[in-house]
Amino acid sequence: MDTVVAYTDTSESLKESVRRAVDLLEAGQVVALPTETVYGLAGDALNQDAVARIFEAKERPHFDPLIVHVEGKREIAGVADIPDAIAKDVSRLTEEFWPGPLTLILPKKKVVPDLVTSGGDTVAVRCSSHPVFRKVMRSLQKPLAAPSANRFGSISPTSAAAVLKELGGRIPLIVDGGACACGLESTIVEITPGDPKPHLRILRSGAITVEELKLYGKIDKSTAVPEGSSPGAPGQLESHYAPRTPLRLLQSAESFVPEPGKTYALLSYRGREEDGYLALTDFVRVAVLSPGSGKLPEAAVRFFFLLRELDEAGVDEIIAEPLPSHGLGVAMMERLRRASA
Ligand code: TXA
Ligand code: MG
Repeated sequence: MDTVVAYTDTSESLKESVRRAVDLLEAGQVVALPTETVYGLAGDALNQDAVARIFEAKERPHFDPLIVHVEGKREIAGVADIPDAIAKDVSRLTEEFWPGPLTLILPKKKVVPDLVTSGGDTVAVRCSSHPVFRKVMRSLQKPLAAPSANRFGSISPTSAAAVLKELGGRIPLIVDGGACACGLESTIVEITPGDPKPHLRILRSGAITVEELKLYGKIDKSTAVPEGSSPGAPGQLESHYAPRTPLRLLQSAESFVPEPGKTYALLSYRGREEDGYLALTDFVRVAVLSPGSGKLPEAAVRFFFLLRELDEAGVDEIIAEPLPSHGLGVAMMERLRRASA
């Protein structure tokens, strides 16, 4: 199959690309679309065949459920029920974070194919803020299932070029909406009632931070799924986000001893000598997440892009510096831990 890359840089190309995407989606085909987090591989969430095509293109095992994208809070009703006990909390969260990178786990409606939820009775619902994604949704008027547009277990794509590398030849269309503004996937949250605040269980750390969520509920750490637990627990597969090159996440500079004859690349946080990592060995390649400043949003935007670049550098091992364990650092550390598993 030839994969067409469609552009959105002029008002005409945008219109034409959206029309093309909508035509394909209406016909039950899959299309890669930009979101503010990472590129998604979208298909009509209520069309069994379209959903099956998503799994096939990604080589994704059927036990890993998909996120369903809706246009706004009102459209949740098309795919999920909002229990009365958390209705107010859902309203608060969606008012604050939608459209944006927060995914909510809710009881699913019957119309949603079991394939989408891997047979489970909940569905993950999200509302993207990307203008191109929103245009497609507005014109299509249907919920879209859209996992990240990479092959299963591989690095999430944050550019159309990365999608082409992952899924070129397997899907008919990639809509190029530029680089993703967040660069990390959405935060997935399960809400349970609580007084005065609900309990928010974070199933996947992401672009919305614990610090932001704390205002809206009690963050449940006691129930959090342990790192790298059983495959089959949604979102908890160990080798997620893995580059093909082995990756090692360091705890400190002292913990690294280079092996003679082996080649290394470094994923550095700030690229500063005084952090003690740059001189550990003669790195073939050094990628700096946040040059100079150490700003975490900057690091997040560049994270998957640089990981992909280092993966292509042809070294024996990628060495990653640890990142701060607050804000967006939490989500990046979670992904680095998985990648090094
Ligand atoms: O930012 C994002 O969320 C991106 C963009 C494209 O929207 N999507 C994304 O989808 O990251 P995906 O499929 O790569 O990751 C979705 C995660 C999976 O780990 C899956 O196990 C989990 O969400 N998930 C889906 N439905 C679930 C459910 N009902 N309960 C718990 N976890 C669920
Ligand atoms: Mg993914």
